[in-house]
Amino acid sequence: MLQAARELGVDIDSICGGQARCSRCQVEPIEGMFAKEGITSSADHLSNMSVDEQICQQEGLLKTGNRLSCQAKILGDIKIAVPASSQVHDQVIRKDLEIHTIEPDPLARPGIHHRMYGVAVDVGSTTIAAHLCDLSSGEVLASTGAMNPQIRYGEDLMSRVSYAMLHTGGAKQMTDAVRAAINELIASAAKQAHVDLSEIYEVTLVGNPVMHHLLLGLDPTPLGSAPFPLTVKDATEIPATGLDFHLAAGARAYILPCIAGHVGADTAAVLLAETPWKSDEISLIIDVGTNAEIILGNRKRLLAASSPTGPAFEGAQISSGQRAAPGAIERVRIDPQTLEPRFKVIGGNLWSNEPGFNEEFGKEEPGGQHVTGICGSGIIEAIASMYLAGIIRPDGVIDGKMADRNPRIEASGRTFSYLLHQGDPKNGKPEIRIQQADVRAIQLAKAALYAGARLLMDRMGVDKVDRIRLAGAFGSHIDVKYAMVLGMIPDCDLTQVSSAGNAAGTGARIALLNKASRKEIERRVRQVEKVETATDENFQKHFVEAMAIPHASHTFANLARVIQLPDRPEAGVSLKEKRRRRTRKR
Ligand code: FES
Repeated sequence: MLQAARELGVDIDSICGGQARCSRCQVEPIEGMFAKEGITSSADHLSNMSVDEQICQQEGLLKTGNRLSCQAKILGDIKIAVPASSQVHDQVIRKDLEIHTIEPDPLARPGIHHRMYGVAVDVGSTTIAAHLCDLSSGEVLASTGAMNPQIRYGEDLMSRVSYAMLHTGGAKQMTDAVRAAINELIASAAKQAHVDLSEIYEVTLVGNPVMHHLLLGLDPTPLGSAPFPLTVKDATEIPATGLDFHLAAGARAYILPCIAGHVGADTAAVLLAETPWKSDEISLIIDVGTNAEIILGNRKRLLAASSPTGPAFEGAQISSGQRAAPGAIERVRIDPQTLEPRFKVIGGNLWSNEPGFNEEFGKEEPGGQHVTGICGSGIIEAIASMYLAGIIRPDGVIDGKMADRNPRIEASGRTFSYLLHQGDPKNGKPEIRIQQADVRAIQLAKAALYAGARLLMDRMGVDKVDRIRLAGAFGSHIDVKYAMVLGMIPDCDLTQVSSAGNAAGTGARIALLNKASRKEIERRVRQVEKVETATDENFQKHFVEAMAIPHASHTFANLARVIQLPDRPEAGVSLKEKRRRRTRKR
């Protein structure tokens, strides 16, 4: 059913990519005779409930009568309703431009033409953003953003690669969809800025390797498995008509180079925006998404790797997880004394313990705005706060002993969970609970990220970095202190850890406006030493150690200066033993 919906252009949320794990794709079969469509719809026209659907139902995740559209097969005429909670929410398009002074040195020079414009496009797997610029002044005249329509073919990159693999013409469908969306974004930016499409002479585009290949009309399937060979790696400059963009006569499109099979043109753009090669200080630049792209370097060397963090940081594989959209919890604090939480929700201004919060989230009003789930930044802060409050032990286990102190900590089968928000599940307002499995999913993701960074540090022969920059929408919204408490990133002076904002978009804009920058990035990309995390045995070692919160052996001295970290058990010494020694000392 999910596939049929996608083919018809109906967007159904499918965070887990159709693996019956997220229960986001549920739909309601409607029975009866429908004269308009000339059908008799019956729930019997769907395949029997799968085992996974039965489990979801037992766990209370699937409403009685509803079906998971990724599981149900259509066997006859059927009419279905897609509840609001299963529709792909318009994700907050968090791709604001950074203030970044760019010296214009355009390729196309005003001659007979008076007005010349260009567009920088950042093709993300979830969202696409376009920025229309005046090519002579560099000024951004309009910015537009939209969901990437390819999402209906697969939530994440690998599901899109499999769609291309399993469906004849599937890659072309995705190429057409993304080009059409970019055309629309350019047209709407032009309209906003009162610019005619015939005055647009340049387009620069960036995207990860799969987005890059699909945009260029190349088969993305080789990128689905090791060694992830790129069909085209170098920067590409072609007539804009080659990408179906209908702009000024002779308009050109420039796509930045890819760095490696899993480190794409978007990372090249981040590199161009950040210019770590201009400094002696060592910068660690991390672009957090479904994969984390990591760059480490300075004037002397540049290294890059991609680490398989998975989609947990984007709210997927988390029981109450969702994308960053209105209704998602994005900030969490827990009082270490009472173990009571307070949180903030996207779309609201108040903390949950402040007067007016319930009115803001229309608790009483049916269909009103309410808390719908928890997004990536929220889950990081929730788990880091649970650790700081002692609810989670350094090994990531939710400590059942804390149930005596606050009933929010409750047994869930053989493990424990923490109730963050009560909700009103009978009226469609979900309870938000942090389960042990959620903590595990985040531990795995953060350990992959940390291990990738340490591996690059090993290669460079350094034990600390001078600055950390977090790029991407997610990087802009996480509180770096909590990311460090969790051990996502190495210890560093917190004043030197900052968000690089939408660095990929900034890089695309630099390449649009400055001719010399294109040569520069092409040269730098050739210099980058690629580190393969998948085959390096040290990666595994770092990964295992990084599963602990914040880390099994590394100390976080900079962090400990600004935040009180819970006591860590000394290596080989049990907590019991530690307590005994302390008592003896007294
Ligand atoms: S897509 Fe069906 S359960 Fe996730």
